[in-house]
Amino acid sequence: MSDQLRNEIERRRTFAIISHPDAGKTTLTEKFLLYGGAINTAGSVKGKANSKYAVSDWMQIEKDRGISVTSSVLQFNYDGYCINILDTPGHQDFSEDTYRTLMAADSAVMVIDASKGVEAQTIKLFKVCVMRHIPIFTFINKMDLEARDSFELLDEIEKVLGIRTCPINWPIGSGKRFKGVYDRETKNVSKFTAVSVGGAKSAAKEEFSVDDPNLKEEIGDELYEQLFEEIELLDGASDEFDQELVDKGELSPVFFGSALTTFGIETFLEHFLKMTQSPLPRESNEGAIDPMNDFFSGFVFKIQANMNKAHHDRIAFMRICSGKFDATKDVYHVQSKRKMKLSQPQQIMAQDRKIIEEAYAGDVIGIFDPGIFSIGDTITVPGKKFEYEGIPTFAPEHFCRLVPLDSMKKKQFMKGVTQIAQEGAIQIFQDYLLGMSEIIVGVVGVLQFDVLKYRLENEYGCDVRMEPLPYNYIRWVKDPTTDLNKLSRISDCKKVKDMKDNPLLLFANEWSIRILLEHNEGLELTDFRKN
Ligand code: G4P
Repeated sequence: MSDQLRNEIERRRTFAIISHPDAGKTTLTEKFLLYGGAINTAGSVKGKANSKYAVSDWMQIEKDRGISVTSSVLQFNYDGYCINILDTPGHQDFSEDTYRTLMAADSAVMVIDASKGVEAQTIKLFKVCVMRHIPIFTFINKMDLEARDSFELLDEIEKVLGIRTCPINWPIGSGKRFKGVYDRETKNVSKFTAVSVGGAKSAAKEEFSVDDPNLKEEIGDELYEQLFEEIELLDGASDEFDQELVDKGELSPVFFGSALTTFGIETFLEHFLKMTQSPLPRESNEGAIDPMNDFFSGFVFKIQANMNKAHHDRIAFMRICSGKFDATKDVYHVQSKRKMKLSQPQQIMAQDRKIIEEAYAGDVIGIFDPGIFSIGDTITVPGKKFEYEGIPTFAPEHFCRLVPLDSMKKKQFMKGVTQIAQEGAIQIFQDYLLGMSEIIVGVVGVLQFDVLKYRLENEYGCDVRMEPLPYNYIRWVKDPTTDLNKLSRISDCKKVKDMKDNPLLLFANEWSIRILLEHNEGLELTDFRKN
């Protein structure tokens, strides 16, 4: 492998930012881009107006632009690194794609609102990161507002998420009394100075050594005393930084800051880029494939249908896992056993799309899908036949019965739901006994119901009725030969099968899952299915 290729791959950092809505993910992303020089003013990534749009606006946006506005990968250079941030849609557009995006990231940044702590959506996304054993970095945001006690926040992360934490810096006060952060390695205090919202990249840095006699005056007696007490407590009780544990996803380095006021962002980026890894090897049916391999390979982790009726194409998002992608060369799609050229490979940004000629392991590109790709497919060079490990199917949380209004159009209806399900936005199930005559749809985020209805009507000419079902939990039965009719205490659940006849159960709450397990010894249930 050439030095140039190795260097390109080594300098790549591909990560996702996970958080509960409103914790500050968009603001933080924007500040990263400001540092990288990719944008000039804040507010240009994805305005609030877009991220909180109503369904109808969303449809309009999709139609106008021909692709989801939420599908974005932001690439920029900073300090010699080439950074790819994978967007994880989080508001109403939270969907299975959000989970799948994490399958393409090498690490994750978890943004937590300092006044709220660990929230529901963070927990869900965090679980996927843990499943993959990728490094997780924590940014505790909004320190300029009244925050919860820092020790309490760390405790909550450890207890609720089950990961050890290691604060890299430590806040001095919060809200109106927020004075800055103490760096545990350099033993310097950076004084808090807010930078105007859309403005300059960084505030003039004011740093004090913790031994500086002026520090007391700067932060006040009370916070000064408190800082020393807390440093002592931290040094005695918290986990030490250990790169190996960070790499395995067992220890999360923690940073405090304020994205809105651009405080603590540069420090975070600098530490993070050093502590996180360049593209990782990925498992395949022929063993792990090293990114530094000479040959190009990648896998599809997301498929986005075009909402524009005039263009029935789809865009497949591919994570490049090894070597260099060269748009002029033939590639091989392992699942269809076809050699092809990928037409118009592009980099997809929040605002626009750019045709690219080459990309490297770690990058994510969008490729036109004439309807042949499925989620998890492997694309590589002709001559190779290995397949990357599949992407799991994650548990949907909302269910409805889907009834076609025109019984003459049953065939169109099935074609439509099957195709849309293949793209991965929805999952379809059939009744355990009635089979296909009762179709049940499951989604991770409710917006997908509207998208489904809209698409069935507009693309397949099928009007449908959706009857909501009172279940929020689905579990795969680990042993597919289990006869669900023979289980005890099953009356509370709904029995279904997927399209491959694997048995599943729908539950209204966690309590009914527990009861079922208690009354059926040996029964094993899972909340995702390995593909
Ligand atoms: P999200 O992508 O995680 O959903 O969060 P986003 O960045 O959109 O931030 C949610 C709200 O929190 C925004 O306010 C944003 O300005 C604010 N925010 C983010 N980081 C900080 C911070 O460090 N300090 C303070 N004080 N606020 C922060 P909004 O009023 O909902 O939107 P906007 O009108 O400001 O755009």
